[in-house]
Parts: sequence; C-alpha cells; structure tokens
Amino acid sequence: MKIPYVDIGAQSRALKKELMSAVETVLEHGNFVLGQELETFEKQFAEYCGVDYAVGVNSGTDALFLSLKALGVGPGDEVITAPNSFIATASVIIAVGARPVFVDVREDYNIDPSLLPTAITAKTKAIIPVHLTGRPADMDAIMNIAARKGIYVIEDAAQAAGASYGQKRTGSLGHVGCFSLHPLKTLNACGDGGVITTNDREIYEKLRLLRNFGLVNRDETVMWGYNSRLDSLQAAMLLLKLKYLDAWNEKRRDNAEIYRSLLKNVAVMPWELSYEYCVYHTFVVQVEKRDDLQAFLERNGIGTRVHYPVPIHMQPAAQSLGCRKGDFPTCEAQADRILSLPVHQGLSEAQIHYVAQKIRVFYRGK
Ligand SMILES: Cc1ncc(COP(=O)(O)O)c(C=O)c1O
Repeated sequence: MKIPYVDIGAQSRALKKELMSAVETVLEHGNFVLGQELETFEKQFAEYCGVDYAVGVNSGTDALFLSLKALGVGPGDEVITAPNSFIATASVIIAVGARPVFVDVREDYNIDPSLLPTAITAKTKAIIPVHLTGRPADMDAIMNIAARKGIYVIEDAAQAAGASYGQKRTGSLGHVGCFSLHPLKTLNACGDGGVITTNDREIYEKLRLLRNFGLVNRDETVMWGYNSRLDSLQAAMLLLKLKYLDAWNEKRRDNAEIYRSLLKNVAVMPWELSYEYCVYHTFVVQVEKRDDLQAFLERNGIGTRVHYPVPIHMQPAAQSLGCRKGDFPTCEAQADRILSLPVHQGLSEAQIHYVAQKIRVFYRGK
C-alpha cells in the first residue's frame, strides 16, 4: 500500500468541476487584482472566524509581516514567540527590524505562558503565539499577561483554520490573527496566499493600505506600503473550499481519533482539553528511534515528515541572536522525537490501520 504524506492533487481532482467554473468566471470578467471574489472571501472568512474584518494577502508570511508593521513594531522592539515553529514566524520579526525572543513550549507544543513574564522587557511590543499542529495555544493565559503589560498579541494561526478555544475560533482570540493559505494547509490556495483577521477597525484599515502600496485611490499614497494582495483567482477557489473546511477538519479529527485508539502504549500522542477543538494540520507523535521508524515507514510506502527537526534558535541564521543549544530544553527534546504521521482528509480508515500496524511491527510487533 502507498500512503503519501499529503495528496493535494486528489483534493483538486475531487473539486475540479467546481474549481474550473470558479476560475472561468474570473477569467471572463478579468478583474484579477482586488476583485469582487476577494471582497467576498474576506467577508466570509471574517464571519467564519467570528471577527469583523479580514484582509487577504500574498502569504502567511506576509500576513505576519504586515501585522507587525500595522502594529508599529520595528527596530529596537522585541517580539516573543516559540522556537519550534516554521521559520517564517521568526523571520518576519527580523524583517521588520525587531528582535525575536524565544520562549520554550509545553508538552502540547505551544508556547508556555508561565515563562512569558520573565521574557517580557520594556522593549517587548508583541507576542506571537503559534497554534502549532492546529491546536490552539493557551490564549486566555497569554491575553491576560499581554493585557497587564500592554503588549499586542498576533496569533500565528497558519496551521489552525477552523480550530477553536472555548467558544471562539482561532483568529478571533488575539488582536490580530494570521493564516497561511499555502497548498499544504487544510484551507489552501492553488499557490501562495494568506489572510489576516481582526476586530480592530484601525488595524484593518492600516492593513488594507499596507498590502496595496498605501494607496487610498489610484494616484494617492498616504503611507509607505507593499504589494501583497490575494489574487481574485485564488479568492474564487478559496471561497469554494471554505465551504468544505469544517468537513475536512472533522475528517482529520476522526483520523486522529483512530490513531489514538490504535497506537496506545506505542507513541506519545496529542490529546485535547475539553475547551479545545484541534484541527490536526499535523498529527505529531513522539517516539523512540524516530529516524529509524521514519525510514522503516518509508520503505513500507508510508510518507511522514518532521515538523521541525531543527528548532529556530538552533538554525545557523539564529546564532547571531546569541541563541545556543540547551536554551529551550522542552522544544529541543521534542525535536529529536517528533514525527508527523499522514492525517489528511483523503485517507481511508484502512490506510490509517496500515500505518498504525507498521508502527507496531517496528516496535517489536506490539
Ligand atoms: C506556523 C507557520 N507560520 C507561518 C507560515 C508561513 O506561511 P506561508 O508559507 O503561507 O508564507 C507557516 C507555513 O508553513 C506556518 O506553518
């Protein structure tokens, strides 16, 4: 049996007729940039997240970068985030001229709020908690600390479209929420894309200017900005896919539940608290002899990934920040043991059983 880690082509094939019709509509009217589809997508995505506003941009990375810009983060400022995220979370902090300050994570892979007070200084302007794997960070604790200190919170919700914490969806928990619509995300564009959510009208208006050269009309620029717009073609296809997001997330949750029942006593698996709704962008287990297991699964036709094998603070690029091995013990210990199993919505129950069976065989036929 062949089980690819992801199967993006299969998702597109299943929706091909609807996608092609959405594409044709845009090709006909030719309004490719800042068109009606983008406006509609922004409106519907904002509603989906339970916020007043959404702004479509070029990528999840741009969503984070423009949010930092909109909040006035720049040289001399510090921004706190987790060291186990995708590199983009830290690189945007550098890109605006600020300094990333890392804080270790908990066993749930998300930033540990109890460590925030010692990391906050007079220079701290924002915290970027990452809802890693599609599990929401502990936002009540983070927002309480941020409110006491007068610090902004930007959710990195790149992996967490549709997840919720209590009664609220990700993207509605911080001051700003940043989503990636990259092809590997559950809600995905056919190329790069991103979207920012907020309830703050002033931030929203700034973001709309920043993504389009600061133009208020064709000829007048009121602030320096960028070119970072979500294309109408992408918006048209995303509008269609948004209708399926809940069903896809439910299927991923079902897949996670099957793994949990089959891999008890074999691997450390993700769990959920009563007030969390996790969407399993990745299903990350922790195992002994991870690299050997990964190679064994590969030989048996099963694709897996490691998200991420080298923590950000241990990247060569981060050495100029004075970061060292040993700085964030929980994150570092996890990096050696984590393995992302295939969990996408196209998997059959039989395929998940096959993955679990091979893992059990690897660990001496348990
Ligand atoms: C946690 C996290 N943040 C940011 C990003 C960046 O998003 P994009 O690839 O759309 O720029 C990603 C994408 O992989 C991500 O997983």
